[in-house]
Amino acid sequence: MMSDRQPKDGDAADEPAREGAKRFGATGADGKLLGFSTLAVHGGEPRPKLGNSLATPIVQTATYTFADTQEIHDHFQHRIEREEYGRYGNPTQRIAEQKLAALEGAEDCLLFSSGMAAVTTAMYAVLSHNSHVVVTDDSYRRTRQFLTQTLHRYGIEVSVVPAGDYEAIEEAIRPTTRLLVSESPTNPYNRIVDLERFADLGRRHRIKTLIDATFATPFNQRPLEYGIDIVLHSATKYLGGHNDLLAGAILGSAELVDGVRSLQAITGAIIDPLAAYLLVRGLKTFALRIARQNANAQALAEFLAAHPKVTAVHYAGLPSHPQHEIARRQMRGFGGVVSFEIAGDLETTSRVIDACRIPQIAPSLGGVESLIEQPALMSFYELTTEERLMVGIKDNLIRYSVGIEDAEDLIADLAVALERA
Ligand SMILES: Cc1ncc(COP(=O)(O)O)c(C=O)c1O
Repeated sequence: MMSDRQPKDGDAADEPAREGAKRFGATGADGKLLGFSTLAVHGGEPRPKLGNSLATPIVQTATYTFADTQEIHDHFQHRIEREEYGRYGNPTQRIAEQKLAALEGAEDCLLFSSGMAAVTTAMYAVLSHNSHVVVTDDSYRRTRQFLTQTLHRYGIEVSVVPAGDYEAIEEAIRPTTRLLVSESPTNPYNRIVDLERFADLGRRHRIKTLIDATFATPFNQRPLEYGIDIVLHSATKYLGGHNDLLAGAILGSAELVDGVRSLQAITGAIIDPLAAYLLVRGLKTFALRIARQNANAQALAEFLAAHPKVTAVHYAGLPSHPQHEIARRQMRGFGGVVSFEIAGDLETTSRVIDACRIPQIAPSLGGVESLIEQPALMSFYELTTEERLMVGIKDNLIRYSVGIEDAEDLIADLAVALERA
């Protein structure tokens, strides 16, 4: 399991920030690496901030003024660091990015208007005509759709292979393969990809690897430490944590992130200053929230695994999970999503969901409020049962995203719902 001390050796203490202030570094006064909660509260933030504000200012501006022509010369010749125009960046965004980079142990981070904006812009930046991509099957449906439908129209070839089948991934690799894409844990089945093996495949074949780590968050897993090139998050989920913002992030080497930043300056899928502020604010409680969600999900999964009306539980924290040992090796906790199957059909499953009082029925996950959904009747609504089965979605599957409520309340609520269905 990962240690409490997350940052990598060599992370700089108090670096200069864009505003001319010092940015809070990853080491304390004693030179030791700071813990996750300390970084979640202080990491990446400049000291002092604009106007000596303790809270992160929301710099609500579309453009930035220059004092004189000399300042324009200084800016374009990189003699000074400053903002130019809203599509190229915003000070509130920079603080959110630096905080996430500190948490992920990344050289740099780039934020977007949504997780899908991060997916699409990063892929446009890395791929070109005639490139080939290998993506694992149990990954966010829209990511697969973007690859197999949109990018395919631009001459990009895509192979979809089973998540965790490393032989299949290797066999799918061609001379034109430029990117290996997977999630870990996957959505909705919580499959775990061995990050070391995945990164090794990329390294051996000189192909970039991208892990969508939305379900894990950097609290539970830090793919860059295993040699993954690009980490991607839908920050809408656990990073924001309060179901009140949409955002996406990519993290990796400064060079790689910079390449995507240049494209974002053209394509324009930027995060707005208010969303960036909400993200910084949400991240203050990040470590507390995720620890609680890990514990709640584990308790719920154990309850479900022992329930006679439950036929399968997909949660990597259970010893019965097929990749439990891999998860134990590379994760600190197993996340807040528990997927499970109940004895019964589509309607029985809907009745369980409708009978729950605490979790609300909604797509998405990762916030402080528990959410529940039947994937067959949410993300996969327009498909028939047969079509859904072909993509592995069963009618009796429930995805439960646990919040930070009391575990005993969530369990008691679900026990009654299962009894009534
Ligand atoms: C694993 C995963 N990746 C990416 C996304 C897309 O993120 P967003 O909804 O912020 O665009 C989602 C959304 O559900 C997701 O679950």
